[in-house]
Amino acid sequence: MPRQLFVTTALPYANAGFHIGHIMEYTQADIWVRFQRMAGSEVHFVCADDAHGAPIMIAAEKAGKTPQDFVAAIAAGRKQYLDGFHISFDNWHSTDGPENHELSKAVYLALRRNELIETKTIEQFFDPDKAMFLPDRFIKGECPKCGAKDQYGDSCEVCGAVYAPTELKNPYSVLSGATPVLKTSEHFFFKLSDPRCVEFLEQWTQTPGRLQSEVLNKIREWFATDEDGANKLSDWDISRDAPYFGIEIPDAPGKYFYVWLDAPVGYLASLKNYFGKTGKDFDAFMADPSVEQVHFIGKDITYFHTLFWPAMLHFSGRKTPDHVFVHGFMTVNGGEKMSKSRGTGLDPLKYLSLGLNAEWLRYYIAAKLNAKVEDIDFNPEDFAARVNSDLVGKYINIASRAAGFLSKRFDGRLSGDLGVEGRTLLDTLRAHSAAIAELYETREFGKALREIMALADKVNEFVDQHKPWELAKQDGMDAALHDVCSVCIEAFRLLTIYLKPVLPALAAHVEAFLKIEPLQWTDSARALGAHQIGGYQHLMQRVDIAKVEQLFEAPPAPKVVPGGEDIAPEIKIDDFAKVDLRIARIVKAEHVEGSDKLLRLTLDAGEGRMRNVFSGIKSAYRPEDLEGKLTVLVANLAPRKMKFGVSEGMVLAASHADEKSTPGIFVLEPHDGAQPGMRVR
Ligand code: MSP
Ligand code: ZN
Repeated sequence: MPRQLFVTTALPYANAGFHIGHIMEYTQADIWVRFQRMAGSEVHFVCADDAHGAPIMIAAEKAGKTPQDFVAAIAAGRKQYLDGFHISFDNWHSTDGPENHELSKAVYLALRRNELIETKTIEQFFDPDKAMFLPDRFIKGECPKCGAKDQYGDSCEVCGAVYAPTELKNPYSVLSGATPVLKTSEHFFFKLSDPRCVEFLEQWTQTPGRLQSEVLNKIREWFATDEDGANKLSDWDISRDAPYFGIEIPDAPGKYFYVWLDAPVGYLASLKNYFGKTGKDFDAFMADPSVEQVHFIGKDITYFHTLFWPAMLHFSGRKTPDHVFVHGFMTVNGGEKMSKSRGTGLDPLKYLSLGLNAEWLRYYIAAKLNAKVEDIDFNPEDFAARVNSDLVGKYINIASRAAGFLSKRFDGRLSGDLGVEGRTLLDTLRAHSAAIAELYETREFGKALREIMALADKVNEFVDQHKPWELAKQDGMDAALHDVCSVCIEAFRLLTIYLKPVLPALAAHVEAFLKIEPLQWTDSARALGAHQIGGYQHLMQRVDIAKVEQLFEAPPAPKVVPGGEDIAPEIKIDDFAKVDLRIARIVKAEHVEGSDKLLRLTLDAGEGRMRNVFSGIKSAYRPEDLEGKLTVLVANLAPRKMKFGVSEGMVLAASHADEKSTPGIFVLEPHDGAQPGMRVR
């Protein structure tokens, strides 16, 4: 019976495209999965968008979309990354799909039947303007420890203090600017502190071979010990109040599952959705004890996957994960914090659009990975050096040195014999099959590649000793030349088998060149014999370091408008959507005493209150000519304290880049029919 594997990667939040960290995780899992498939296992490899939660709801609102439309647009962008980097998911779904609504409720109801759900009344910050409870990240204020301004509700970025949002001084809502008020609400809790849970999790986490040792150590810290020396875990708040983008809790109108409750259930939902398409029985599969359930995740979400998730599954009568494989973080250029801003980070789509080969990156990531929870760094010089010296210099080189002679002199037909030395070399290569397989199995990809490259070194030494380029010039050495080149091709085939989990597209080209069936792991035991191969075409270019450096350069200089100002660097629609432009009526316009530039405008943007905005348009307008007119207001600009008072926004006006030589300021005015408060998009 082949192994049956159900494999997932973490479900990415559906609020942005992928960054290099996502690609790293998918590459790690994909290599493992491709190895398993080559070894004959039945693998079901699935993922999905993690669609729910307050941040996505708020981002959607800001973009002027329904949450459903917002996450659908994100989902539509996934394919180009996954195809581009050869990530072989069998299915991509969404946690907002019907399967997940149904399964999440079923899991919850089973936990409730098991008396593991409890309600408690808690006090939380509430935004009176938005009429919603505020997640910690949406409350800001002054740090209670160091007094730094504009710090988030959970921790201070200046002094590093961690605190509760209620401890902030002068707190305000990031959404509306309003002062939040404390309000009570009934929340649902999963009783992780229940002795049954604690006992189960101790046994589950400590099952030998299930978790990495560093992960186990972390978990031991999380099992806080109380006065009696007994282990205890905290109960988990699994509900959120409306408005929330999520799954409504059964029998609790206005209450939704916290996103982290339904997110991991999304693994099951994606599998179920997939089986729905292929006609496989989901319930039977998940009830089969021989099925291995494997999750690949990053270190930051270990708690959810090694405590909450197995407990949820176990106490709802389901199969628990067999392995949770945790990886470290990928950093770029020496651990520089990955940021979206240009110049840093490694944008996966930019990588592809520059024509850089996706398999170079797969190879590089694999070469750096091991089974530990260690961070890995992308370094451009190191990247180019590894790919050029290993992949091109050692591996590809073997085929390119032999293939020409074979096609020119022997019509592409391999010699059946190979000679004693050649056979010994190939036997050595074959003898490593099991050890390399074990390294893939245990996610020691770096070690696997080092073993494979050591074998490639041996093959190159063989070539250097036998010098086919000299044999080709000598009379009567045809048979020797034929053998040496045939050994090279057979060795190249073996190395291709070993590299195929990492380099699937390249392996497909090799299969076409050698005119063979898709390579399986056991094909290393066979020999090609007197097989006829196709013509060689160069299989892989060397990395051009200049191209790699381009990856980290700021985008090309923007176009220049003749005689005018440069066009600002390109932005995404999401960037534009951050700017909230509103139609506003200029209710009042006045001179500002002591200012020869500014007019004070009183604006009605349909908010039920007036805004005070200072605008540098005095040189072009008389106040009375503006009153009653409509214009466009940047409504979500941070208020700015000026000498004359606080300006709460900005009105839009056109002007020449060089105002001195070409004077004129022109306030924007909408066409007839626009109303105060309408959004401009
Ligand atoms: N939506 C949750 C996961 C829910 S799983 C039921 C989430 N999403 S995420 O988009 O923030 O992260 C997705 C995965 O990417 C996580 O495994 C996370 O650890 C991983 N990574 C995020 N940044 C990373 C790096 N810089 N490097 C490697 N992996 C990183 O968390
Ligand atoms: Zn602080």
